[in-house]
Amino acid sequence: MSRTVLVTGGAGFIGSAVVRHLLAATDHHVVTLDALTYAGHLASLEGVLDDPRHTFVHADVTDAAAVADAFRTHAPDAVLHLAAESHVDRSIDGPAAFLRTNVDGTFTLLEAARAAWTTDHGMRDDVRFVHVSTDEVFGSLAPDAPAFHEGTPYAPRSPYAASKAASDHLARAWFHTYGLPVIVTNCSNNYGPRQFPEKLLPTIVLRGARGASLPIYGAGDQVRDWLYVDDHARGLVAALERGTPGATYLFGGRNERRNLEVVQQVCRLLDDAHPDGAPHANRIEHVPDRPGHDVRYAVDPTRAETDLGWRPTVAFEEGLRTTVDWYRTHPAWVDAVRGGYDLERQGLGPQAGPETGRGTP
Ligand SMILES: NC(=O)c1ccc[n+]([C@@H]2O[C@H](COP(=O)([O-])OP(=O)(O)OC[C@H]3O[C@@H](n4cnc5c(N)ncnc54)[C@H](O)[C@@H]3O)[C@@H](O)[C@H]2O)c1
Repeated sequence: MSRTVLVTGGAGFIGSAVVRHLLAATDHHVVTLDALTYAGHLASLEGVLDDPRHTFVHADVTDAAAVADAFRTHAPDAVLHLAAESHVDRSIDGPAAFLRTNVDGTFTLLEAARAAWTTDHGMRDDVRFVHVSTDEVFGSLAPDAPAFHEGTPYAPRSPYAASKAASDHLARAWFHTYGLPVIVTNCSNNYGPRQFPEKLLPTIVLRGARGASLPIYGAGDQVRDWLYVDDHARGLVAALERGTPGATYLFGGRNERRNLEVVQQVCRLLDDAHPDGAPHANRIEHVPDRPGHDVRYAVDPTRAETDLGWRPTVAFEEGLRTTVDWYRTHPAWVDAVRGGYDLERQGLGPQAGPETGRGTP
């Protein structure tokens, strides 16, 4: 069945991968709604922006009138909601933008979908609202604890994670109270092309290429479960097509790695790409840890595998090589997106920096 899918945050890292996947693998029409904050860029949609099945709407998810207008104009019958403030460090420096976009924005979108999809006979059952969230809502896992699953209690510990947890609760409440066909997904750490340079992997790749030090928070002992971004995008579309309203699906790569191990692996790839700078691992610098840094995240994706028929397809070594190569060969994208940001440290506290800069819709 061909749908019109509204993708919020489609000019960001994961959203742009979702838009590409929808256009390549389905016959759906795609409406990208994005405020183009510091993290969202039309350059990330290069090649698909002018696709006849794609429309771009420059709007803020907290702007109820603009969101209602998008529903009226484009009549989406599915929403993939990815728009968010997404960087933990920025949430430490300036949490207000996180509450605004992640909590108020989700509320605004849920209300717009409810208004648009409620008929004289009640809620339409052919529509879907996929709320995209993170495994960080579950808090910090002990080293030997079993991985997060759909029943793990919420215990968010950063302003970012708390704002995403709040939005997950809203989404589920709209399912139970209003019958909105909501599906919630929680995913582990993504990596791949088009991630804003402030995140760990692009920071290491880009600083490595310019011969700078390679900062790692604390001892680098934190464990994350890494998933290639296109595998997440496929999972989200599988949840949209085959998910059960009211259900939660967890996506992860069954690929737990210590941060230091990941950085050392990137260093080996940089050694191949820039032999002049080898060994890049000599430039790893341990810097003060992130306040409240969660020790470990790990996801049990069994339900997504069983119920959605989803599996990660990209091996970590392969995905990492593709990612390093992509940043090396796309300096124009890096220059287009980074604005005034020059790979400096963030997240040391409110006195360290201003609120998150925002685009003007
Ligand atoms: N990156 C990860 O590892 C990861 C893992 C699990 C879940 N997630 C979730 O996936 C989603 C996307 O993450 P990402 O890494 O692609 O983030 P990102 O920061 O790269 O992109 C966010 C996008 O949302 C847009 N946006 C921000 N505020 C907006 C607003 N008020 N109105 C409209 N658009 C707005 C930005 O312009 C940008 O295009 C988020 O909801 C995040 O919580 C991310």
